[in-house]
Amino acid sequence: MQFERFYADRAACMKTSEIREFFKLAEQPDVMSFAGGFPSADYFPVPKITEVLQELLAQEGKTALQYGATEGSWDLREYLAQKMTREGMPCTAENILITNGSQQGMDLISKVFLNPGDVVIVEEPGYVGGLGAIFNYEGRRVPIPLDQEGLRADILSSELRRLQREGRTPKYAYVVPNFQNPSGITMSLNRRREILQLAQEYDFLILEDNPYGDIRFEGEPIPSIKTMDPEGRVIYLGSFSKVFLPGIRVGWIMAEKALIDKIACAKGSTDLCSNSLGQRLAYRFAVSGYIDAHIKSLISEYKAKRDLMLSCMEKYFPEGVTWTYPQGGFFIWVTFPAGISARRLLLKAIERKVAYVDGAGFYVNDNGKNTARFAYSEAEPQKIKDGIAILGELLHEELDKQKRHASGSF
Ligand SMILES: Cc1ncc(COP(=O)(O)O)c(C=O)c1O
Repeated sequence: MQFERFYADRAACMKTSEIREFFKLAEQPDVMSFAGGFPSADYFPVPKITEVLQELLAQEGKTALQYGATEGSWDLREYLAQKMTREGMPCTAENILITNGSQQGMDLISKVFLNPGDVVIVEEPGYVGGLGAIFNYEGRRVPIPLDQEGLRADILSSELRRLQREGRTPKYAYVVPNFQNPSGITMSLNRRREILQLAQEYDFLILEDNPYGDIRFEGEPIPSIKTMDPEGRVIYLGSFSKVFLPGIRVGWIMAEKALIDKIACAKGSTDLCSNSLGQRLAYRFAVSGYIDAHIKSLISEYKAKRDLMLSCMEKYFPEGVTWTYPQGGFFIWVTFPAGISARRLLLKAIERKVAYVDGAGFYVNDNGKNTARFAYSEAEPQKIKDGIAILGELLHEELDKQKRHASGSF
């Protein structure tokens, strides 16, 4: 049966991400994979979870296994409101909506705000799940490149002027200011201010997605854009996935109450409510202070892996290859010398049981062919050493081949 004739027009935008395809590869145990941006399952506190789950089921099993409010469990919303208030974003539980991961937050925001063709400003390179959530609702993504300080506010400014001449204003800008996926770059305070000023001047919203912010290895935390927002123009997304467990699917949206009410209507028809058991579990671990202590140990584990991957790149990668220096999070962004195709190199690497994600999938347009994302979060230290050494060999071979080509000895 051919189903195409039944699909809505927007289904044409719904395509499998190549990056998701790599997850399948990453699951094979013999692969030295830097592809999937998962947290390391080695750090999931399984025995403690078993203990707390047993207690939870004994004490409040009936509520934890029942449907809950669409907006989420009140206790958890209150806890998160207090956390956000402490972090300089004063709010109450009514400003919080619990989602099935922050990914659902992105989907719901697109569902509520986007008509086909509406403009959304995105980072380039940008988080694939965020780009997909906009595209699936037929939003028009306008990419703005990054530099070491994050999204280029000067280019955004000229792009906004160009859009204005076309009679268009973006609905919102989607940004990941801390340890961005895929680049590992952190947006400077100045850029955060500039982008908010542009949002105020041109009247668009900002969707600030911050799943990695707490995993900072060094340097002072930079205030989120939401802390500088007196009008409620910034919608903030948080998540327990990277700092606790992704499998329980618990994230949140923090925004003005009027927006929360509207988004809750959209969520109701999507899933009625988020995972009740996961919310109860996250609440117990959060309110007891366990997650804060857990984050401290995650920081030292992930920092050691980042340091190892950076030092291996330094040792094995040939001159001409450059990479970012993430101060936290999971990712390093690598740029190969012009002319080296990250995709072709990846095919060779896979033959040698090494994987990364080639960068093109993080671009809206046809760019980034010599770029790649390396996640150090999941890989074991020995695999980081061996995998980066193999990639170093392959890169040397590629560059030698290029040199021979250029000198005509082919
Ligand atoms: C930038 C960013 N936002 C959101 C998500 C989705 O996280 P969650 O598990 O909370 O849905 C991810 C996951 O990789 C991410 O990297």
